[in-house]
Amino acid sequence: MTEQLVRELDEAPVGRDLIEDIDHILVSEQQLQEKIAQVGRQLTRDYAGKDLMLIGVLKGAIMFIVDLSRAIELPLTLDFMAVASYGASTETSGIVRILKDLDSSIEGKHVLIVEDIIDSGLTLNYILETLNTRNPASLRVCSLLSKPTRRHVDVPIDYICFEIPDEFVVGYGLDYNQIYRNLPFVGVLKPELYARPTDANNNSDNKSAGEIEAE
Ligand code: IMP
Ligand code: MG
Repeated sequence: MTEQLVRELDEAPVGRDLIEDIDHILVSEQQLQEKIAQVGRQLTRDYAGKDLMLIGVLKGAIMFIVDLSRAIELPLTLDFMAVASYGASTETSGIVRILKDLDSSIEGKHVLIVEDIIDSGLTLNYILETLNTRNPASLRVCSLLSKPTRRHVDVPIDYICFEIPDEFVVGYGLDYNQIYRNLPFVGVLKPELYARPTDANNNSDNKSAGEIEAE
């Protein structure tokens, strides 16, 4: 039964009702938009007069960076990077490869990394180490979600919209097997839809040991 559901999800059948796969909503559309407006005002104050560059980590941060950038009332530039991390099927190792690098230099810029979720922190840790070598004027992190109980490395997160418990969430950019990103809220996926819970938490897209996308 579960196997069949997972197969159905992999095939992304047309007409599937996404909402039926959600166990409960964790952060509603209204809560998301109110918080993003508030963080946007804070960033507008903090970066006034500075050369601000937002860097979105693809693909999970797409919805967030679109709404957040519109809530910041300052001139700014946008750039994107995509990364993959190596690991066993249950944990990311922190060894990360850049799939898509930035288009532009960050030297002398005030850089804000925009992330969807910080889980173990290993991916963000690598991104920070890499970007720090490129001499930005400052380097900070803004994450929509954080799961503090799953942290393996202590990464600094300067702006966090919502701290959430250790549950696998989808929506508002976050996926399971690449689906659910277009839901307007953050919700907990029904556990019976996971291939295996540990895989779900590591977003392995049914790839076994080896490379997994950290999106
Ligand atoms: P980290 O290196 O363990 O912090 O990996 C973070 C990445 O794992 C995120 O960018 C997501 O792609 C993925 N991830 C972690 N938790 C979730 C979740 O609950 N839902 C969807 N993706 C998640
Ligand atoms: Mg993902």
